[in-house]
Amino acid sequence: MSTPLPPDKSTVQGLIMRGYTHPYSSHLLFRFSSKAAASQFIKALLPYLRSAENWGTNKPDKMLNIGLTFTGISIASSLTKTELNAFPNTFTTGPASQGSQGSLQDYGEGDPEKWLFGGLLTNGNPDPAKRVDAIVHSYAMHQNSLNELTDFIAKAATAAGVVELLPLDGGKGRLEQYQLPVDTIHFGYRDGISEPDLNWPETWPAPPVNTDPADLNNFLIGYPNSAFQPGPSNPATPNASAFAKDGCYNAFRVLYQDVNAFDKYLSDNAPVVAQTLGKSTEYAKEWLAAKLNGRWRNGSPLILSPDAPDPATADATNFSYTEDTKGLKCPFSAHTRVGNPRDEALFPAESPVPRLIRRGVPYGAPPVSDNDKGERGLIGLFLCGALASQFELIYSWINTNNFSPLFSPNFDTQDALLANRATPDMDTTFTIPIPGAAKPLVLPKLPQFIVARGTAYCLLPSIPTLKAIAEG
Ligand code: HEM
Repeated sequence: MSTPLPPDKSTVQGLIMRGYTHPYSSHLLFRFSSKAAASQFIKALLPYLRSAENWGTNKPDKMLNIGLTFTGISIASSLTKTELNAFPNTFTTGPASQGSQGSLQDYGEGDPEKWLFGGLLTNGNPDPAKRVDAIVHSYAMHQNSLNELTDFIAKAATAAGVVELLPLDGGKGRLEQYQLPVDTIHFGYRDGISEPDLNWPETWPAPPVNTDPADLNNFLIGYPNSAFQPGPSNPATPNASAFAKDGCYNAFRVLYQDVNAFDKYLSDNAPVVAQTLGKSTEYAKEWLAAKLNGRWRNGSPLILSPDAPDPATADATNFSYTEDTKGLKCPFSAHTRVGNPRDEALFPAESPVPRLIRRGVPYGAPPVSDNDKGERGLIGLFLCGALASQFELIYSWINTNNFSPLFSPNFDTQDALLANRATPDMDTTFTIPIPGAAKPLVLPKLPQFIVARGTAYCLLPSIPTLKAIAEG
């Protein structure tokens, strides 16, 4: 086998390699009418397309990245049917398919039938009215710059005959980032702290040869030693392999957050927590918020700061669950412990722990009253090399905590923040072990804090692939 070269940063879309810190962003959804329209549209966007090259001190004021769904690739590319079929099933059938729904479990309020965009299947085909072919992730340093950029993108779409989907405000609103304090999401937590390192040697070969799930070859398609089989890489489909190389999948998932239900859960349970701990109800609320997430709202992990948030641990990512076998510091079902159980004992079939690159931002203003049911939540970008064995595997753990012997003998609990509580036969109580206490604290019924509003599986193709589409 020839020696693989490190990826060339000028060919990789920037969003994959780095979390942008631009304060303004908007995530625009499009439907193609034809191959020619897709080419014209993408060609128009190329001047703003951002690669993974270092921008030094000259941070771009306006820039964008582009994702294509399977339907988008089918229309925009020159791949044959056989070549298209080389893409992994999870990607070709999309998030509303039976296979994906086995993990995502979008019953009830979050049913794909009710999604605002994407994935809706009618007789096996995406509903044309909600079909998403492309997502343009646009970023800017100022609100004015973002407006200029989104106007430019929308005009380019109109000129090419590409239709924009406006999922919010009854078909009038875009998915635009809301300006909460830096790195904060609804529910008041800090986010974006723990991310994969994406190590990749500057020269090749370099031992050890990229076997860590946090390494770049588990995200970028086309490199050896991936633990999660990103595709397509079948030599019989060279055009599909070349199309996908240096790309990365993005599970784009818009998640409504019921801030009032979350605050109410904290307030309703604070008295019993306060009594159990012998602390104030204000402390009890913060403690409970930390137990649900695994980190205090400032970011401090419970494992390192079990009793109070500590500025010194707010950014900590290097910690272990091996000593906490009873969940006395961090409950087993806390969101971050489910999303990344790290070195916790896992069933062999669930190993190694997959990692995800998270590039999400909040949307919608915080509620102004207890009855305010306005749209707000997370515009979630979950990047991975393999949708099934990274994103969907973690999602299945979120909905059913059955991946570690630690949950024994009951494997029917759920992620405390996120899971779909409508999943049948689940134990929706929240168990919090308390040091020194004879029994854990068992809080009643976790509410549905988060509801899926739409999902689209995209490939963030390499820049040469996007240029080839632009050339038709
Ligand atoms: C609205 C929905 C969500 C909220 C409010 C939320 C909240 C959070 C917060 C506050 C953190 C801690 C910050 C950090 O470690 O960077 C976190 C981490 C994380 N979340 Fe979520 N999250 C959501 C959705 C998801 C989904 C859908 C997934 C997976 C499919 C996920 C996977 C993770 C992972 C893997 C981590 C990092 C854990 C670690 O490495 O220690 N999250 N999330």
